Amino acid sequence: MSIKLSHSVAVCLLLLLLSAGLHAQTPAEQARAEVEAAIHLTPDVERGKKAFMVCAVCHRPEGWGFEDGTYPQIAGQLPAVIIKQLADIRARNRDNPTMLPFTSPQLLGGVQEIADVAAYISQLPMDPMNGVGPGVDLAWGEQVYRENCVDCHGDRGQGDATDHIPLIYGQHYRYLYRQFEWIKMGKRRNSDQKMVKQIQRFSPRDISAVLDYVSRLRPPAEKLAQPGWQNPDFPNYSRAPIPAPPRRW
Ligand code: HEC
Ligand code: HEC
Repeated sequence: MSIKLSHSVAVCLLLLLLSAGLHAQTPAEQARAEVEAAIHLTPDVERGKKAFMVCAVCHRPEGWGFEDGTYPQIAGQLPAVIIKQLADIRARNRDNPTMLPFTSPQLLGGVQEIADVAAYISQLPMDPMNGVGPGVDLAWGEQVYRENCVDCHGDRGQGDATDHIPLIYGQHYRYLYRQFEWIKMGKRRNSDQKMVKQIQRFSPRDISAVLDYVSRLRPPAEKLAQPGWQNPDFPNYSRAPIPAPPRRW
């Protein structure tokens, strides 16, 4: 009897272990859990400022990245979007080998630090001179935008925090272009599947026209920095150019 019992206990244990293995979190689930936790925390902007010191190396002290799109502007982005991208990148649900090491728990911290740094970045004023496209096909770009993007990204490119939809106004054209291509071809794995479907039939002309139009959508005045503004939180920081990340596109 006792042998039989321990046998069935062992079988139960084995089944338990197996089902735990089967339910191991995927990168997407891991990221989603972090996002859910982080968006409900009360952020501390002062602590976020300290965490941002690491980010400033690449995204620059103003958070504006570079006009050539190698490093994106992150200043002014919706906190929920920054949180989602950070969680996705660190769970490897979005590939970003250049930034990955800086999102580790050792360097960045846990969900509270993610919430803090997102709050700090989202209140930084945006680049008044972001990189724009060639400017030759804007009427077509506007039409494509109205028919395909407004429902999600909003009529001014303002995004939507409740659905983690990024604001895309004021972003550098070449960054928009790279992300759009990666979303279309499935290389950006954390993309919105409805968007992926929506843009499959886009021609090269549609893509450059619509993104040129988006890059010229002006953020509202209260979100833009004054010309010549430098982040006073980083007075002695070198603003010298840095090398571009290794080319992966
Ligand atoms: C070593 C350079 C580097 C560092 C340090 C770095 N990043 Fe990045 N980050 C990048 C690059 C490069 C990209 C764009 C990658 C791509 O093209 O997909 C990026 C993308 C992002 C994005 C996505 C932007 C978007 O709209 O798609 C966010 C948000 C972000 N970084 C936040 C941060 C934060 C917060 C920190 C600090 C904790 C940080 N980054 C540190 C290089 C860096
Ligand atoms: C069904 C909703 C939906 C539609 C339609 C849609 N998008 Fe998106 N888009 C999203 C979401 C959600 C994301 C963020 C996904 C993620 O988490 O990475 C995104 C991401 C992006 C990004 C990357 C932004 C960044 O900061 O990394 C760009 C650029 C973009 N969309 C442009 C467009 C354009 C232009 C159109 C119209 C042609 C469009 N999208 C249509 C929902 C949509």
